[in-house]
Amino acid sequence: MAVDLHNYVASIPDYPEKGVVFRDLSPLMADGQAYKQATDQIVQFARDKGVEMIVGPEARGFIVGCPVAYDLGVGFAPARKKGKLPRETVKAEYALEYGTSELHMHKDAVKPGQKVLITDDLLATGGTIKATIDLVESLGGIVVGCAFLIELDALNGRDKLEGYDVLSLMHY
Ligand code: PRP
Ligand code: HPA
Repeated sequence: MAVDLHNYVASIPDYPEKGVVFRDLSPLMADGQAYKQATDQIVQFARDKGVEMIVGPEARGFIVGCPVAYDLGVGFAPARKKGKLPRETVKAEYALEYGTSELHMHKDAVKPGQKVLITDDLLATGGTIKATIDLVESLGGIVVGCAFLIELDALNGRDKLEGYDVLSLMHY
C-alpha cells in the first residue's frame, strides 16, 4: 500500500535562520518504502519521455537522480560546485541569498541531442535548477523534464521553469 510521503518530511522552524521553516527530506531517504515510492513516481514520469540521461545538481540532486537512472537503465551526470570536476567543464552562475555560486559539468557529460531529465530534492527560488538547465542546454542536451520531491510554492521557482515539464511530488 502506498504511504503518504508528507509523513516523511521533517519541518524544522527557524532553521537555518529565524522565520524559515526548513523541509528536511532525510526521513524519506532513510525509509526504504518511501524512498522507493518517490523514486518509482519519478521513473513513471520519465518513462514516456524517452529519457536517455539523468542530471542532478550537487549534492541532494544525486540522491534523487541516481536511483531513477538505475531503474531506467540510463546514465547519471552530476552538476558540481566549483573545483570538484577534474576535466574541462562548462559553468553557470546562479544567485544565492547573499552573492552568487556556480555549478559545473564536464564538457562531455551530455551528448548533443540527448534527452535529459533533471532531478533535485527541492525547488525553492529555482536558481539551482535553472543553472543546471543552462548547463545541459549549453552542451546541446534537450531537457525533457525536471523532477523534485518538494516544491516551495511561495518562492515561485516554477516561474524560472516556464516551458519545461515539471513534476513535484509534494508542495509546501
Ligand atoms: C538546496 C537544494 C536545492 C537548492 C534549492 O541545495 O538541495 O538544490 O538548494 O534552492 P533554489 O531553488 O533556491 O536554488 P544546496 O545549495 O543547499 O546544496 P546541497 O544539496 O549541497 O545541500
Ligand atoms: N529544505 C531543504 N533545502 C532547502 C530548503 C528547505 O526548506 N530551502 C532551500 N533549500
